[in-house]
Amino acid sequence: MGIYVKETDELIGFGSIIYIDWINKSDHCPSMIGDRKYWSKGYGSEARLLLLDFAFSERGFNRIWALILENNIASRRMFEKCGYKTEGVLRQSIYKNGKF
Ligand SMILES: CC(C)(COP(=O)(O)OP(=O)(O)OC[C@H]1O[C@@H](n2cnc3c(N)ncnc32)[C@H](O)[C@@H]1OP(=O)(O)O)[C@@H](O)C(=O)NCCC(=O)NCCS
Repeated sequence: MGIYVKETDELIGFGSIIYIDWINKSDHCPSMIGDRKYWSKGYGSEARLLLLDFAFSERGFNRIWALILENNIASRRMFEKCGYKTEGVLRQSIYKNGKF
C-alpha cells in the first residue's frame, strides 16, 4: 500500500504484508518512507497503525512480527510506539556493508 501526504497526494513511501503464514495467521509488515525529509513527522507511525489495523481487523492476522537492525533507531522507536515488544536478538543474522 502506498503512503501519501493527504494535503498534496504525494506518494512518499509504502507498507506491505509479506511472509504470510495463513495456517498460523502471522505475517511481517515492512514499511518505508523514501525521502528522508519526511522522516520524524509522524507519517511512519500513522501508516503503521493503519497497516496493523488492516492486517488484524480486516485480514484476521493474529501475530505481526518485525526484524529490526539494532542500529536502526528510527525503526525501533516507531515499532515501540506502535505497540511491538522485543522478543529476542538474532545475533550475526544480517550481512550488510561487508559485516555481520
Ligand atoms: C522507520 C521509518 C518508516 C519511520 O518513519 P517516520 O515517519 O520517521 O516515523 P515517525 O515520524 O512516526 O517516528 C517514529 C519515532 O521515531 C523517531 N525517529 C524518527 N527518525 C529518527 C532518527 N533518525 N533518530 C532517532 N529517532 C528517530 C521519531 O522521533 C518518533 O519518535 P517520537 O514520537 O518519540 O519522537 C523511516 O525511518 C524509514 O522509512 N526508514 C527506512 C526504512 C526502514 O528502516 N524501515 C523499517 C524496516 S521494516
